[in-house]
Amino acid sequence: MIIAIDGPAASGKGTLGRRLARHFGLVYLDTGALYRAVAAALLDAGIDPDDNAAAVAAAASIDPAILGDPRLRTTEVGQAASIVAAKPEVRAALLQYQRDVAATAPGAVLDGRDIATVVCPDADVKFFVTADLAVRAQRRHVELTGGGQMIEQGAVMDDLSARDARDQARADAPLTLSEHAHLLDTTKLDIEAAFKAAVEIVDGTTRA
Ligand code: DC
Repeated sequence: MIIAIDGPAASGKGTLGRRLARHFGLVYLDTGALYRAVAAALLDAGIDPDDNAAAVAAAASIDPAILGDPRLRTTEVGQAASIVAAKPEVRAALLQYQRDVAATAPGAVLDGRDIATVVCPDADVKFFVTADLAVRAQRRHVELTGGGQMIEQGAVMDDLSARDARDQARADAPLTLSEHAHLLDTTKLDIEAAFKAAVEIVDGTTRA
């Protein structure tokens, strides 16, 4: 079984994806971490994230072992990630790895921006998770300050808004609500309620 989850930054899709993977005994991949790893490699080397050749080279040599590194979670890396993610050759270089993970037995949950549309268009269940910008900014602010980063909530909101614009406007694999995706708006749903709703949808789909 493959579960595809797409949605904007800080919508709760990562938390939901991890919980679904644990519940159904599936592998989990946060595909945003791949773009963040490319961005971090460039920033660490002092290279402009807009440098296409360097970004493609970094994407081709990613070490999956660093995907869980908390250093990837900073706003600076997130912004640079949305710059490298707009590059078609970077996306192409990361595609096979994502599809290989999706093909792992007994199945996988992948979250990102183009999972239902590009990476796994044949996924068994597709979710689009979203929430109002202000709510997402508040959640991300709690997460960042809890992790020791000093940042104002307004700056987090500006950052998310800039990333939303870039992720939705790019020509290659933009963030969109795909056909057949189940929309989960977590503005007023806590993670427990969102998780419960998602499990019911998955159970209903796989029973059908
Ligand atoms: O989900 P995230 O915030 O960790 O993602 C970081 C950036 O990577 C985000 O701005 C858009 C990009 N991304 C993407 O283009 N496609 C994906 N499947 C996942 C993330």
